This record gives sequence, C-alpha cells and structure tokens, in this order.
Amino acid sequence: MDRYVVFGNPIGHSKSPMIHRLFAEQTGQSLDYSTLLAPLDDFSGSATAFFREGRGANVTVPFKEEAYRLANSLTDRAQRAGAVNTLSKLADGSLLGDNTDGAGLVRDLTVNAGFSLTGKRILLLGAGGAVRGALEPLLAEKPASMIIANRTVDKAERLAELFCDLGPVSASGFDWLREPVDVIINATSASLSGDVPPIAASLIEPGKTLCYDMMYGKEPTAFCRWASEQGAGVVMDGLGMLAEQAAEAFFLWRGVRPDTTPVLAELRRQLTE
Ligand SMILES: NC(=O)c1ccc[n+]([C@@H]2O[C@H](COP(=O)([O-])OP(=O)(O)OC[C@H]3O[C@@H](n4cnc5c(N)ncnc54)[C@H](OP(=O)(O)O)[C@@H]3O)[C@@H](O)[C@H]2O)c1
Repeated sequence: MDRYVVFGNPIGHSKSPMIHRLFAEQTGQSLDYSTLLAPLDDFSGSATAFFREGRGANVTVPFKEEAYRLANSLTDRAQRAGAVNTLSKLADGSLLGDNTDGAGLVRDLTVNAGFSLTGKRILLLGAGGAVRGALEPLLAEKPASMIIANRTVDKAERLAELFCDLGPVSASGFDWLREPVDVIINATSASLSGDVPPIAASLIEPGKTLCYDMMYGKEPTAFCRWASEQGAGVVMDGLGMLAEQAAEAFFLWRGVRPDTTPVLAELRRQLTE
C-alpha cells in the first residue's frame, strides 16, 4: 500500500492522518497515512529513510524550511514561499516540494465562503512563514491592495519587497492604519496567548469586512471574538484552511480532488465535542 506521513516535532496532535484517511475513503484510494516524529536535528536523515519506500509527505513545524532545502525541484509557489509543506516522490525517485498552505487559505475564502478577493483591500497581520506562503496565492486573486502589518515592521517590509512584482503590496506597523479594509487575515501567533494584534477597530466596516484567523480552536479565537464584537460582516477561523491545504496535497499525490465539505464538518464536530 502507498505510504504517506506527516513530519513534525511535536506531531502527536496532528489532524492530518484523520483528514487523509477520510479523503482516501471518500475517493476510493488505497493508501496508508501516519505521523512521523523526526528528530529536531535530523529531519533530512528521517525524510531520506522514509522516501526509500514512501510516496509522499506533509511537513509541519519546525521542518518546512528544511524540506524546502531537501526537495530536488520546487513548484513556483513553494519557491516563492521559501518553505515546503508537501513532498512528493516523482517517477525518477526525485522529490518535488510544494507549498499548499496559501492555496488552502484562498480556497477556503473563495470556494467555501464564496468571497471574491478580486479588487478587494486586504490586510495581512503577521510576517512569518504563514504570510510568506499565502502571499503568492492571494496576489494571484488580483486584490486592489495588500498591506502586510507586523509587530516587527522591517520583516513586513522585506516581504513586501520580495513580492512587489506580483501585485500592489506594502508594509505597515499595526497602529499606522485607520481606513476600513475588505478583508483582515490574522496570521500572527498572538491568538496562541489569547492576544489580538493592536489594530484600530475602524479597520472593520461593520456588516462588511471579512475577518479570518488562521488559528482555530474549540472556542472562537481571541481575534475572532474581537472581530465579532466590532461587527465584522463575516468571521472565520483557520480550520477550513487546514482541510483545504490537505486536499491540495492529496490532489498533488493522487490526481483526485476530494470534497472537503464532509471532512471539514467532521473536523469541526471533533473539535467542539
Ligand atoms: N490553519 C492552518 O492550516 C494554518 C497553516 C499555517 C499557519 N497557521 C497559523 O498561523 C499562525 C502563524 O504561523 P507562522 O508559521 O507564520 O508563525 P511564525 O513564522 O512563527 O510567525 C509568527 C508571526 O506572529 C507574530 N506574533 C507572534 N506573537 C505575537 C503577538 N503577541 N502579537 C503580535 N504579533 C505576534 C510574529 O511577529 P514578529 O515578526 O514581530 O515576531 C510573526 O509575524 C499560527 O497561529 C499558525 O498556527 C495556520
């Protein structure tokens, strides 16, 4: 049976085995998907050993940059992201690196929520790996503007420079902005500690602005709660992004696109029970 794994450290919490098992059942694909705890100092050795037999792998914290370096070839979006979350063994035995996180985010917004990003003013909070992975797929939707706001402003400036050939990207500090935007995407890890990035409430146009937190949890995240309190038009967490990035990886490996709707419903059910 074709073998797939998700590498990470820690990895015990991962929902990926359940998601891919449900995708495989739904599409009639025969595969085995499990977690693989790689040692912090030897991702490369662990991945090389796995790929003697294995067909594909997802890669999560803290190995996405190492997977980028390990891959023999890269998709354009992985090249731009500087990080790989999906490895696929090609027919000649070489490893293709892809990054499906940003595509998963865009699909959650445009397909699941039915929200067009074209011509919209987008504010991205954060300038870490998740923002870097999201920028190319977001800019491909042709927004009117894209502002990257971060606590450490020079990191946002570096990303804006790196992606400015793809669209109208600029950098900012959190408290420099006042004018309402159409979309706010929180890609900081502030929600982990129950914090909300210090942005002005006036950025939200009540009843209109869509607010998205890449984090998710049993309860609404701090950012989602704050956005609801300001009257945001739509408030979403990142569970759909998780399911959609997995579906993109499954499609890359198996050539079949699973329907994420029942899988997302099951993830939500398990998260809140
Ligand atoms: N749903 C999904 O499928 C999915 C996929 C990928 C990531 N994520 C989530 O996205 C988030 C970011 O991930 P990442 O990989 O980009 O992390 P990362 O590379 O470590 O970057 C973290 C970012 O958060 C900022 N930050 C951290 N604590 C903050 C605080 N208290 N206040 C304001 N800003 C703060 C950092 O700012 P500085 O630069 O100033 O340090 C940086 O911009 C995480 O919560 C992760 O779980 C979700």
